Amino acid sequence: MWQFVLLGTALLVTGGRCQSVTEVYAEAGSRAVLPCICRSTSSSAATIHWSRVSKSTVWRKAKSGLEYWGIGANRVRVPQSHTGAGEYNLYIKDVRREDGGKYTCMVEDGEKRVTSNVLLMVIQVSISPSAPVEGDKMTITCSVTPWPTGATVSWMLNEKTIHPESADYVLSKTQVYVLQTKASDSMAGNWSCVVGSDGRTPGNASTPLTVRGIVKPSRDSASVYAELGAAVTLPCVFSSGLTPSKPVWERLGRFGSVLPLPPSFNTSFLPPRQVWDMSVVVGEVRQGDAGRYRCSATVEGIRVVREMQLVTSQVFSNEALTQKTPATLTCHLSNTSEVTDYEWVQVNSDPNNTQSVSSFQKGRVLKINKETDRNSGQWVCRFYGKQGVLGNVTYHIPLMSGQMGESKPESSGNAGVVLGLGILLLLLLLVFVKMYKNHRRRQMILQYPAMETIVHSIFNEREERHRERVKEDDISK
Ligand SMILES: *[C@@H]1O[C@H](CO)[C@@H](O)[C@H](O)[C@H]1NC(C)=O
Ligand SMILES: *[C@@H]1O[C@H](CO)[C@@H](O)[C@H](O)[C@H]1NC(C)=O
Ligand SMILES: *[C@@H]1O[C@H](CO)[C@@H](O)[C@H](O)[C@H]1NC(C)=O
Ligand SMILES: *[C@@H]1O[C@H](CO)[C@@H](O)[C@H](O)[C@H]1NC(C)=O
Ligand SMILES: *[C@@H]1O[C@H](CO)[C@@H](O)[C@H](O)[C@H]1NC(C)=O
Ligand SMILES: *[C@@H]1O[C@H](CO)[C@@H](O)[C@H](O)[C@H]1NC(C)=O
Repeated sequence: MWQFVLLGTALLVTGGRCQSVTEVYAEAGSRAVLPCICRSTSSSAATIHWSRVSKSTVWRKAKSGLEYWGIGANRVRVPQSHTGAGEYNLYIKDVRREDGGKYTCMVEDGEKRVTSNVLLMVIQVSISPSAPVEGDKMTITCSVTPWPTGATVSWMLNEKTIHPESADYVLSKTQVYVLQTKASDSMAGNWSCVVGSDGRTPGNASTPLTVRGIVKPSRDSASVYAELGAAVTLPCVFSSGLTPSKPVWERLGRFGSVLPLPPSFNTSFLPPRQVWDMSVVVGEVRQGDAGRYRCSATVEGIRVVREMQLVTSQVFSNEALTQKTPATLTCHLSNTSEVTDYEWVQVNSDPNNTQSVSSFQKGRVLKINKETDRNSGQWVCRFYGKQGVLGNVTYHIPLMSGQMGESKPESSGNAGVVLGLGILLLLLLLVFVKMYKNHRRRQMILQYPAMETIVHSIFNEREERHRERVKEDDISK
């Protein structure tokens, strides 16, 4: 703040004279230095007199060395270190608007009397109301006392020039420059007013602006990224110390309709927190939850509203058509408009449970061979926006091959298969043996066809006799 600007027509020092009219800008609250350099022959013995035009003495030093302070006594001084060189600069600390005006420095040395005139212009930037609530009407004023003729005023916010014509500002072209606008968080920062006119070094003054309202998210339609099934917080945090009343959370439908929050957005689960924090915690994000949301509350009579977008992420996979085809994992987001890049990384946990990440490949789709155990485990798709990582989504590839001989269910399954095959082979063998035996028998019979008929006829005869005997018995009964 202790800054000053020396400007204007160059101080021409000629012989025992000092050239008059110098202009000085000073920021209100800072220290102003009013120059008076008069090289006279015997300066140490001179009388120096600083006064305000049409007002009284500010400071005076007699030949004897006696000093006298007039108006603003405790804030002015003339350092004596350079008086020998003819420098009688007047320092005014904590400059006020009423200090602005014309000053005269008079150096009297015997018969010689030289004067120097200095115009002090005090610049002040003020904001009203001092800490506006967002949406509130706000006025930024740049005052220069006295107003310099032909001066131009330009504005800077955080060292960047503001163009009032192109923004939401109204600039009134009066001598007091006013920026009239609706306060928003993007206007917070260091506001500077730069006052200049032809041939002069410009002067400037600054003041910080804080806008009260929703600090998180700081702008409308910010995106919140969440993996399906994971927990997420939809932020809505007001400036600390505020007590927002009538808080409302809503979901915004496609055509401007307003819907209630999904049931999973249960605000009664929330842990206790500050009154200015009305964030909502979602325990488990579901497929249909993606979309636009709005939180609002009233602060000092002004309704403060923030919209945000919940973007859900998940991994699609062509899960195990056969073990031989490579797995294809696709990183899917409900809205990709902010995403510029995707990256797949594998997360490895060592026995100590510390995780290490190895970057694998760029792009939305990952193709990997599931047959090698090296690729099993946790895969994470990270997605990036212009500002860096937006979020990530995780996928697990189970251990596939039994080659390591460690996965139990698979080896017991193999044993079952072996046993089944064994039994089948045994059955086949038995069938073969049976068929072979039949074949052999048939061959033997063919060798002795007569024998077969003999055997048959003997058998038939016996049968007949037996039947007759049974019939006779029946009749006798
Ligand atoms: C504000 O901006 C002015 C002008 O750009 C600069 O001189 C001043 O140091 C800044 N103040 C702060 C606190 O950043
Ligand atoms: C504002 O004034 C200070 C010193 O008074 C100077 O260093 C700075 O460059 C000025 N800033 C602008 C933007 O003119
Ligand atoms: C939120 O959860 C609590 C506790 O399970 C339950 O009593 C309450 O009815 C739920 N509220 C809503 C709006 O679902
Ligand atoms: C996707 O997000 C952008 C902002 O990031 C938004 O403008 C756009 O409307 C969104 N699209 C859909 C379909 O919601
Ligand atoms: C696990 O921790 C032990 C002791 O802290 C250390 O000696 C060992 O190197 C660690 N192993 C790995 C793989 O980091
Ligand atoms: C995924 O995101 C979470 C939450 O932001 C973070 O803690 C984690 O380290 C990220 N994982 C990777 C592999 O980037």
